[in-house]
Amino acid sequence: DGTAHLGVNALNSSLDRVRADDTEQRLTTNQGIPVASNQDSLKIGLRGPIALEDFVMREKIMHFDHERIPERVVHARGSAAHGYFESYQDLGHLTRAAPFAYAGKRTPAFVRFSTATGERGSPDTARDVRGFAVKFYTDEGNWDLVANNIPVFFIQDPMKFPDVAHALKPEPHHGMPQASSAHDTFWDFASLSPEITHMLMWLMSDRAIPRSYRMMQGFGVHTFKLINTSGEVRLCKFHWTPLQGTHSLVWDEAFKLRGLDTDFHRRDLWEAIEAGNFPEYELGLQVFTETQAESFPFDILDPTKLIPEELIPVFPVGKLVLNRNPDNFFAETEQVAFCTQHIVPGIDFTNDPILQGRNHSYPDTQITRLGGPNFHEIPINAPLAEVHNNQREGFHRQAINRGRVNYEPNSLAGGCPFQVGRAGFVSVPEPVIGNKVRGKPELFADHYSQARLFWISQSAPEKAHIIDAFRFELTRVETLAIRVRMVAGLVNVDATLAHAVACGLGIAVPPPLPLATSLPLPVYPPSPALSLLSR
Ligand code: HEM
Repeated sequence: DGTAHLGVNALNSSLDRVRADDTEQRLTTNQGIPVASNQDSLKIGLRGPIALEDFVMREKIMHFDHERIPERVVHARGSAAHGYFESYQDLGHLTRAAPFAYAGKRTPAFVRFSTATGERGSPDTARDVRGFAVKFYTDEGNWDLVANNIPVFFIQDPMKFPDVAHALKPEPHHGMPQASSAHDTFWDFASLSPEITHMLMWLMSDRAIPRSYRMMQGFGVHTFKLINTSGEVRLCKFHWTPLQGTHSLVWDEAFKLRGLDTDFHRRDLWEAIEAGNFPEYELGLQVFTETQAESFPFDILDPTKLIPEELIPVFPVGKLVLNRNPDNFFAETEQVAFCTQHIVPGIDFTNDPILQGRNHSYPDTQITRLGGPNFHEIPINAPLAEVHNNQREGFHRQAINRGRVNYEPNSLAGGCPFQVGRAGFVSVPEPVIGNKVRGKPELFADHYSQARLFWISQSAPEKAHIIDAFRFELTRVETLAIRVRMVAGLVNVDATLAHAVACGLGIAVPPPLPLATSLPLPVYPPSPALSLLSR
């Protein structure tokens, strides 16, 4: 029964199978052979060479030599926790997704928070977008909502992802800077990629230096589809809101913390959960129809745009509670593998190009990162729902599939997995006609309206922080032409902002970058005169 309640302890007890406790156990090799000495290798005479025969020492060192796996190519630095999601209501009128089947239904969850740019050992409080990836172990398989704490993204096409990631990461010739966007290559890319402007406004704001993983929002970014129990389809954006409130550090604090405690966010999350002070986040939905979407002055397939809450309000549908720290950082936090492609019946994709690119990228990278195609069997990744199919073999296969038949159709097996038809995952039928082309819809070319909307939504101190952040970052850019190009882009966001940044850099305000759209930009009221220029 697809709606059966898995119970929140199900994941915890399913991990018992692989939990190991070595306390007071006799020491053995990996073959279970009792070890007489863990101190000295086998030598030919006490001052002689070590014998090749010493399988105890060689096995121990050989295993150590291979302890490291590649870090994630992005979001390498992360911290995670177990918990559950509880639905506030039966959402069957909107989606048949299992976690929303009835009020009070609890679905086990595992959440990994991360910084996007820094390497595995980089400081937690760097200015960066944060990952907020949630794995729901639902009755109908795993659903991953792989979100960020900023509701929009850098780019509009997956083709540019390797470029933005290369530009953000340390410069390749000398490997600097670690965990900071304040360097020429990032700003070079940014100044030449106007679609990044909205994301940059968030990145230069206090949102990019959260106080705690317990105090930041999460956003699915892309538009998804919801399919209800009658098969009706609506569009949806996912939002997480921390019940502890959304709080940020100020730059001075963030900067000092980078030196004082590089594990600041990791420690904060761990200690809060150990103390029984469980972080909670409300899941909210923005639900709308295709017809409504057509009336918006932006394209809902463009991940550099959000849907203002004035247009579509967010309504809460459930709560995520994080109540247990992982037992083992490597086994759980490091080996967990999220993917936007992991969706369950009741949810579907849209044609947001970034979402479609992500669906390819995650399992592809995980085949390298986790050593082959069987990483779904690693305990933290294994669904609680049963897995039955004819996929077989490959590196590190754990399942011992029994029987002679591993193909379909067949007449030899006593029983083999059967298809469930419409009770299973069914893609929403969608007519698709068009020329095979490379390009973008026209509305994607408005790169400034929502950046400006963000700017005018900020309070005076928040605006001052944004100006300070641009000044801080751009004064670390050595190439004058990059600084000038950046300010020229900011002129299209807000003249006062551009002027304030230009003053900080000691340059004149350049003419604005040409607009990439033939559409007139929506007009917003001018922002209040800034007393911030004196800062
Ligand atoms: C991690 C690719 C856009 C959020 C990753 C990883 C890759 C990747 C390769 C490492 C996965 C792993 O090793 O397990 C991409 C590509 C993108 C893209 C190609 C665009 C074309 C986004 C967007 C978001 C996002 C728009 C947010 C909505 C995350 C998060 C993680 C991640 C949270 C860390 C997951 C974890 O904690 O394990 N991404 N990404 N990414 N990405 Fe993306």
